[in-house]
Amino acid sequence: MVFGFKEFKELRNFIYEKTGIFIPDNKIYLLQRKVDKALKGSKFKNFEEYIKYLKFYDTNKSEFTKLINEITINETHFFRDFPQLQAFAEYCVPELLERTKKRKIKLLSAGCATGEEPYTLSIICNEMLPSNVDYSIIALDIDDNALKKAKEGSYLERSVKFAPKKYLNKYFIKYNDSYYVREEIKNNVSFYKVNLFDSSHLLSFGSDFDFIFCRNVLIYFSEISRIKVVSTFYNMLEPGGYIFLGSSESLSRITTAFELKKMGEFLVYQKPLSKEGRNL
Ligand SMILES: C[S@@+](CC[C@H](N)C(=O)[O-])C[C@H]1O[C@@H](n2cnc3c(N)ncnc32)[C@H](O)[C@@H]1O
Repeated sequence: MVFGFKEFKELRNFIYEKTGIFIPDNKIYLLQRKVDKALKGSKFKNFEEYIKYLKFYDTNKSEFTKLINEITINETHFFRDFPQLQAFAEYCVPELLERTKKRKIKLLSAGCATGEEPYTLSIICNEMLPSNVDYSIIALDIDDNALKKAKEGSYLERSVKFAPKKYLNKYFIKYNDSYYVREEIKNNVSFYKVNLFDSSHLLSFGSDFDFIFCRNVLIYFSEISRIKVVSTFYNMLEPGGYIFLGSSESLSRITTAFELKKMGEFLVYQKPLSKEGRNL
């Protein structure tokens, strides 16, 4: 479906209002291709019909879902950004357990894509937590195709190539060309379809998280939507809880509410411990 700049802006703004995902001006052809894919075999004759349907008649959001499934970028792999995971496992988890004496920790993987991130966290927790400490991982994404794959927990070589060999042998079952995540790792992870831009839906998962991972997601958002999502994460974390963004992302232009802490050789963001916290 060919459309001009005016139509592009209308659709771009609609996507932005609903999801926080911002498609820049130079991506008009990309969006056209994505719309074409989402509309394969559909009934719409032209752009006007399509956008009208999206805005006013798509009550069960099925057309919008098809479009968003095309637009999202689900690139991920097991043990992505290893040094950051080391900081989590070797410094943040021990600090939290020592300080709180908790017997159960709660983690969020926001923008979990096809599941590699939450399963990686589950493997690390399984390895690192003392036997009297339990954990649960809530994993969220807007893309239901990605979530379907995540729940299956079956992966090809390219997804697991950075997983340490000993964990690959211990926590996956290899069958033909696929690696299946073992049930003991899957059991602690629950997947839900959630738009991170929907603050009340996010908050319904609780405000008692110890760790929030939102890596390589906010890069697709505008600055205003990043501020909105991060302020919801702030409210979802326990005082002293940690937030991890992607290695190329930073909170510096988003908020000063978190403390930047040096843990060993790593820098991590922690919600202040004092009850008052800081202003967002
Ligand atoms: C590049 S992947 C990151 C996967 C993983 N966190 C990692 O770092 O490897 C980005 C994911 O964010 C999801 N996403 C983008 N916008 C979202 C939104 N508004 N709500 C929920 N998920 C979103 C996409 O569907 C995609 O699966």
